[in-house]
Amino acid sequence: MKEIFNKIWELALPYQDKRDDAGHAKTSLKYALKLVDLEKGNEDVVIPAIILHDVGWSQLPEERRLIIFDPRASEEDKREVQLEHQTESVKLAVKILRKVNYSPELTDEILEIISQHDTRKGFISKNEGIVRDADKLWRTSKEGFTASEARAKKREAKRFKLIEEGLNKADYIYSKTARQIALADLKYWEKQKRHDEASNS
Ligand SMILES: [Fe+2]
Ligand SMILES: [Fe+2]
Repeated sequence: MKEIFNKIWELALPYQDKRDDAGHAKTSLKYALKLVDLEKGNEDVVIPAIILHDVGWSQLPEERRLIIFDPRASEEDKREVQLEHQTESVKLAVKILRKVNYSPELTDEILEIISQHDTRKGFISKNEGIVRDADKLWRTSKEGFTASEARAKKREAKRFKLIEEGLNKADYIYSKTARQIALADLKYWEKQKRHDEASNS
């Protein structure tokens, strides 16, 4: 990789993988390097764009970052955070590209790609298509699967905890006997869940 790309990578590093998606930046970069070569795109556009496309997630509070994965979140809420992270990515990308004195012309093309990398309908150029494909290949990569399974487990654990807290609330359940039954049931399901996970893996 060119020295300038390494510099951009280093500057962007503190802002990467902020959605419980460890490895996203690295994996999408790996695919972009491959695709830009095979599809004959312009690496001076594609590589900085893929490195910087999701840095904006770092600027959103954690609960907002994870809305995308929340099955209870509405489509409007999801869209709103999508738009927000794109805007924030553009803002941070400009700063980083200026810091390394990147060509203003290339910077414009990079920012255009980042600005709608998750929400644009259709593709506007080969470089843009390559960046978005590299981003999507994350989902079927080993790292992408591992991250989404870890997120699902975390969500599940949180759900059990919330139910337990609810059962222990004063005036929620009348008798101690009923509470004990409910808590024992909950334990059983938790154990069952862990057992299923262990035998699936
Ligand atoms: Fe994104
Ligand atoms: Fe991404």
